[in-house]
Amino acid sequence: MFALESTILLPAAEFRSQLVEGLAGPGYVVFPELLRPEIAAEIRAEMERLRDAGAFRPAGVGRGESNRLAPATRGDGTCWFEPAALTAAQSKLGAVLEAAREGMNAELFLGLWDSEGHYAIYPPGTFYRRHLDRFANDSRRTVSTVFFFNPEWTSADGGDLRMETSGGPRDVAPVSGTAVFFLSDRIPHEVLETRRERFSFAGWFRTRE
Ligand code: OGA
Ligand code: MN
Repeated sequence: MFALESTILLPAAEFRSQLVEGLAGPGYVVFPELLRPEIAAEIRAEMERLRDAGAFRPAGVGRGESNRLAPATRGDGTCWFEPAALTAAQSKLGAVLEAAREGMNAELFLGLWDSEGHYAIYPPGTFYRRHLDRFANDSRRTVSTVFFFNPEWTSADGGDLRMETSGGPRDVAPVSGTAVFFLSDRIPHEVLETRRERFSFAGWFRTRE
């Protein structure tokens, strides 16, 4: 396990309090500069290696038996983390997720048991239409998180994550270092069409049942 201070730019206590206040208040929080640039670059390089090795698969929608390909809904390719076999880069992201999970459990009593997640690559011209992350047949997903790995992204590149909040739409550019957390059953969101290859990690903190 890696020290949190060597992974994120915010002091651990600050990270935890902003996370907890965001989820307890509006139900989401955006950290514009969370991951250290060298960690974001390491993860980006790993994603490119995995892509070149053919490790990404077209993503589906729905859980278990009801999972199916749905190119009209989402066009990304995904590469799932294997919790028992995380790479060094993945363990660094994992340290941030664990700190978040502990903070949310300690202060919000969410009973988050574990997390699951995948890298995602959206080729140019793809998107992920409006959806909630909680499945109809499985209510364990409670808090969602997304990290972005796109250096030098401009607004002309598209690909914003658009969250539907009580205060209206909130668009977040998928710029390296930025991370978002939100309540899985409360915040509908979508990935707007991207014009450049777009790299992200999507993860979900789950209750036990
Ligand atoms: C998802 C999702 C957003 C992103 O995979 O459920 O909403 O920016 N991803 O990758
Ligand atoms: Mn989602």
